[in-house]
Formats: sequence, C-alpha cells, structure tokens
Amino acid sequence: MKLWGGRFKTALNSSLLEFSSSLSQDQRLAFADLQASEAHARSLERAGVLSKSELKEIQAGLQDLADGWTINPDAEDVHSEIERVLTEKIGAVAGKLHTGRSRNDQVVTATRLYLRGELDRLHVEIKTLQKQFIEAAEKNVGTLLPGVTHLQHAQPVSLAHHLLAYFWMLERDKERFLEIRKRVNQLPLGAGALAGTPFAVDRLHVARDLGFEGVCENSLDAVSDRDFAVEFLAAGTLTMLHLSRLSEEWVLWSTPEYGFIELDDAVSTGSSLMPQKKNPDIAELIRGRVGRLQGAWVGLTSVLKGLPLSYQRDLQEDKWHLFQGLDCVQSCLSATQDLLKGTHFLLGRMGQSLKTDFSNATDVADYLVKKGMPFRAAHEVVGKIVVTCLEKKCSLLELPLAEYRKFSGDFSEDIFAKLTPEAVVGARKERGGTAPEAVQLQLKLAREKVI
Ligand code: ARG
Repeated sequence: MKLWGGRFKTALNSSLLEFSSSLSQDQRLAFADLQASEAHARSLERAGVLSKSELKEIQAGLQDLADGWTINPDAEDVHSEIERVLTEKIGAVAGKLHTGRSRNDQVVTATRLYLRGELDRLHVEIKTLQKQFIEAAEKNVGTLLPGVTHLQHAQPVSLAHHLLAYFWMLERDKERFLEIRKRVNQLPLGAGALAGTPFAVDRLHVARDLGFEGVCENSLDAVSDRDFAVEFLAAGTLTMLHLSRLSEEWVLWSTPEYGFIELDDAVSTGSSLMPQKKNPDIAELIRGRVGRLQGAWVGLTSVLKGLPLSYQRDLQEDKWHLFQGLDCVQSCLSATQDLLKGTHFLLGRMGQSLKTDFSNATDVADYLVKKGMPFRAAHEVVGKIVVTCLEKKCSLLELPLAEYRKFSGDFSEDIFAKLTPEAVVGARKERGGTAPEAVQLQLKLAREKVI
C-alpha cells in the first residue's frame, strides 16, 4: 500500500521501489513508531479529531501490532507498513491516525525515541565495563609494572592505576552520552511535513506522554535536524577510540615479548596453518572497528552537508549510518567485557621487567633535588650515572654508593631505599598519582560513579 497513490496514474517502477525503500533499516523503529503513534492518537482525541471510541479502536490495533506481524517486504518504509497492517486490522478508521502528521515528523520522532532507548542501554553497558575495571583494579593496587612513554620504560606504575585510566575514559563517554541524551530527547512530532499542524494537538502534552524533555521549537528545524545523530556518532567514535587503545595494549601485552597477560581460550582464536598459534583476534577486531564509527560520522555529515530546509529524502540515509554506529559501539562494548573476563594478568612478569630497567632514574634526580640541587643539574648528573650503569652492566640499585658519590657528595646510603619500584610508586601519592593511597582514593571516587 502506498500512502500517496491518489496523485499517480501508475505505480513506482519496482526496482526503484526497492532502491528507495528504507524498510531494511527502519524495521527496528517499529516499536518506537507504535509508541509515538499511540501518543499521537491520544493527542488527536484531545484535539477533537478522533472520538473516544475511534481512539480505543486505534489503540487496540496498535497494541496488537506491538506483538509483531509479518512484515510485507515490498513496503516503502516501516511507517507505511504500520499504517497498512493497522488498516488491515481495524479498517478505515486507521486512516485517521495520520491526521496532522507527516512521515517527516513521524520518522524523526521514532528515531529519537529509539536512540534514547539505545543510549540508556549503552549507559548500562559502559557501567558494567567500568565495574570490571574497578574489580580488576581492586585486586592490583600493589601490582607494579613499567609505565611507558614512547613505549619505552618510563616510571613504574600500579596495575590498578593503569586499569583505572580506562575507567575515566569510559566515565567521560558516559557523561557525553548523557549530555547528548538531552538533545535527543526533544519532540519533533507536531511539526507536520514542515510547517506545523493546524490541529490543536498539545505538543507539550505529547512530549510528556512520551517522556521527552521538551519540544523542537521550530517545525522546519524539527524535520531537518539530525545533529543529535551526528553528536552520537562523534561521541561513539571516542568510545571506540578508547576501546581500540585498550585493545592495542592487550595485543601487545599478550605477546611473548611483553608477556603481561594471558588470554583465555574462550577469547582467543587459532591459525588455519600454524598449529601453535593463539591469536588476540577479538582485541584486533575491536581495534579495527573504530573505522566503522569514523566512517559513519563522515557518512552522515556528508549526507547533511548543504541540505536545504526542510525535509529532503537524503535524510532517510541517516539511519544507515546511525544504526551502523550504534550496533558497532554496543557490540564492541560487550566484546570488551568478554575480553576483560578472559584476561589473566601475569604479575610476576610485570614486576620482573622492572628489575633491570632504569624506571627509577627520575627518583635519583628527585633525591638530589631534595638535597637542594636544581632539577636541571640533577637531571644531567643522573644521565651520567645511567651511562655508568650501562657500562658496568648494572642497575641503579646495584651501583655501589662509592660510584654515586663520584657524581655528588649529596648521595648517602638512604638513596637505595628510594629506588625500589615500591618506593618509586609509593612516592607519587598526590591526588591522581600512582601511590597506593592515591589509587585507593581514585578507587573510592570511581566506585561512587557506578553506584
Ligand atoms: N522513510 C523516510 C525516511 O526515513 C520517510 C519518508 C518520508 N518520505 C517523504 N517522501 N516525505 O526518511
């Protein structure tokens, strides 16, 4: 059934019908559309367009559809399909439902409702992942590993601290999605095709019925605006970037060269040729899927670029990009949860690699600074001490005090106690640092965010 047959003598060419149909994409909007349609029907009754009994018939029909039906694959979109099947169920009265409404305001109302639900689901998924990071961190406040810059050993950090870095990235993601939710949660319905509706529907009332925080204040903007979807894709790209950075570390850490983690068989894959292989494909796929989000953002902004007011059919393309993005973020969050569940931290190996490195060198300089030497001079001295160690093939902890004193008389026996990985980590106890007490505070603040 076409919604616009009257003006036409022949039907749309069937291959163009297929070309222009959005059913494959917007089927998933069915429930949101039914919800919005029901609220619209009630507003029509309040406006005197529908009688009480007509409203009841329409409501019962919509209710029936909520249990599902066999979708006609030749439909132009889910909205026309809903009207077709509603007519089949309740007869001509179904034709009153579209009064004062256009698919232009209808489609974007359903999209916003749907996205709102998905944002709420994302919120829960992010929280679940955050809790996993907290749990892993709680067990590893005292586990030390080399913190790196440029992938070179820099200063030791607590594994809990490292893991909580991801917690805070996710916290910002959560905040961004919440912020976007406010702008998603505005009602376009009542904008009609573009100019508003001549029927006395109380839009604020409809908004309240559907849980929207407000109404789109300009009917032209209401049917044209897809900023909310672009914002989602931008925020989703950031979430994906975070997951990809984690995944990259997991790939590195699972190599024999690092050996910081071991992945369960349940989250690993093998090679069709090399029998010994156990590969971190899941992490690699998460890392690789960022491209989908970036692509979706570019795709949607390209659709919107230069579009004149108001509704243009180009806007139908929004769903492809939006849904690609949504599905990708959802599935990658869930895959990351599984990945984390299947991760074992190889604590001995992490600590081992701190024994022979120079990640305590800054603390030698800091020692001299505390004795009054300017930091720049101390930096120079310690650089030379490191060269000596390299020549003698020993670590800073193994270098005899007599050697230290060749560089500065400020050194005494107490230098060694400052250079163990525990001491180096323990010294960084200001807020946001890696010392156990600072990490405990961080954990407390983190827990408050996921209650
Ligand atoms: N399926 C379309 C979309 O998703 C809605 C149709 C509006 N069509 C129209 N010719 N005004 O945007």
